[in-house]
Amino acid sequence: MPAKDPVVERERAWQVPLEQIDPSKGWMFEHDTVGFYFERLRAEDPVHHVVSKRYGPYWSVTRYQDIMAVDTDHATYSSDAHRGGIALSERPAPEVFPSFIAMDPPKHDEQRKTVSPIVAPANLARLEGTIRERAGRILDGLPVGEPFDWVPRVSIELTTQMLATLFDFPFEDRRLLTRWSDMATGDPDGNGPVTSWEQRLAELGQCRDYFTRLWNQRVNAEPKPDLISMLAHAPATRHMGPDEFLGNLILLIVGGNDTTRNSISGGLLALNRFPAEYDKLRANPALVASLVPEIIRWQTPLAHMRRTALRDATLGSKTIRAGDKVVMWYLSGNRDGSAIERADEFVIDRARPRQHLSFGFGIHRCVGNRLAELQLTVLWQEILKRFPRIEVVGEPVRTKSNFVHGFVSLPVVIPERVGWGLPPAAGAPS
Ligand code: HEM
Repeated sequence: MPAKDPVVERERAWQVPLEQIDPSKGWMFEHDTVGFYFERLRAEDPVHHVVSKRYGPYWSVTRYQDIMAVDTDHATYSSDAHRGGIALSERPAPEVFPSFIAMDPPKHDEQRKTVSPIVAPANLARLEGTIRERAGRILDGLPVGEPFDWVPRVSIELTTQMLATLFDFPFEDRRLLTRWSDMATGDPDGNGPVTSWEQRLAELGQCRDYFTRLWNQRVNAEPKPDLISMLAHAPATRHMGPDEFLGNLILLIVGGNDTTRNSISGGLLALNRFPAEYDKLRANPALVASLVPEIIRWQTPLAHMRRTALRDATLGSKTIRAGDKVVMWYLSGNRDGSAIERADEFVIDRARPRQHLSFGFGIHRCVGNRLAELQLTVLWQEILKRFPRIEVVGEPVRTKSNFVHGFVSLPVVIPERVGWGLPPAAGAPS
């Protein structure tokens, strides 16, 4: 895929008639040019009506404050799967698997409560040692002085191992989780492994069958602090039907996988594109604390969430009608200079680094936000102990998706190693 000239692309974004702008096109994300269209929309038409060839009519919301207004008003803006759910791309009817991210209260609140303990502070503290040990092992296995692809070797491997831990999933089969995550978020028009809706449905059926076996083992055993056992024992989730079971599994697999994976890749790319920030980090590794939320803002691993209006409402200067689709472009809100200072720059020592939209707001705010931050924190601490610099040595390949904002590959070289980190503590989980 030939790279596009950013100067030409930016000009084009400002010249095209406003009513023709539809920022949902996968190629704009693949070529990393969508930001130019967002910039124009924030300036000229922040609540913009689009009639998309692919998705039909929808409202495109691009400013930080308008996104907050939608996200925090679940009484007006529904997430319900049966009304269209949380993504622009609606699945064909047999593939609507309800999960609590795509439910409204009260059912949403009951199911969310069931899985929340997995990320309670005590459980995170318990997980930290495992994450550190696994991150260290992955980093110690990387080649020095020769190019390799960061995405499968580090980003996918670390997040998949973590997910296997959360589910207490057979470790040797963990790449199935990666596969199912790609299936769940992909579609036949993307550049991922989905080749047809039928193939996607068949593979997700395998996912459900595999997890049903684990469920059957755990429902009859003592409760344990893993996600399957939690779902199998909690009153709000133990009687879920097969579609809802699959829906919630997909939510947890995607929630814990694509998002953190793409933050790991996006952070490394950002440090390479802003070398003065990389220098600052090396001079002061304590900056990892503010680096991590900045990476999550900068990357915005989920580009949008969608809602459906339940009643007429005013947003900015526009009237939204009951039944309208409303798309909150988090990726755009996170570049809104009226809400975030120097929003177009990657700055690793911001005063308020957590002021971003990447985890959403309101009742659906990401359950796993602290876990995601923990994984990135530990990874960067362990990287800095070993490698003074990791260099991006070619153009990344980006996902052709308006939902998962991430990377298919990222070529890198590690020029030198200065340490091996610490040997794992005795008795640390493997
Ligand atoms: C950098 C990493 C992550 C990002 C950017 C992210 C982003 C998001 C976003 C945007 C939402 C929807 C918010 C809304 O609609 O207002 C969400 C919800 C959710 N996330 Fe994450 N997420 C991340 C990591 C994780 C992890 C590690 C998990 C855990 C296992 C997780 C589990 C969930 C769940 C279960 C929900 C649904 C919450 C609800 O509907 O109440 N996420 N996430």
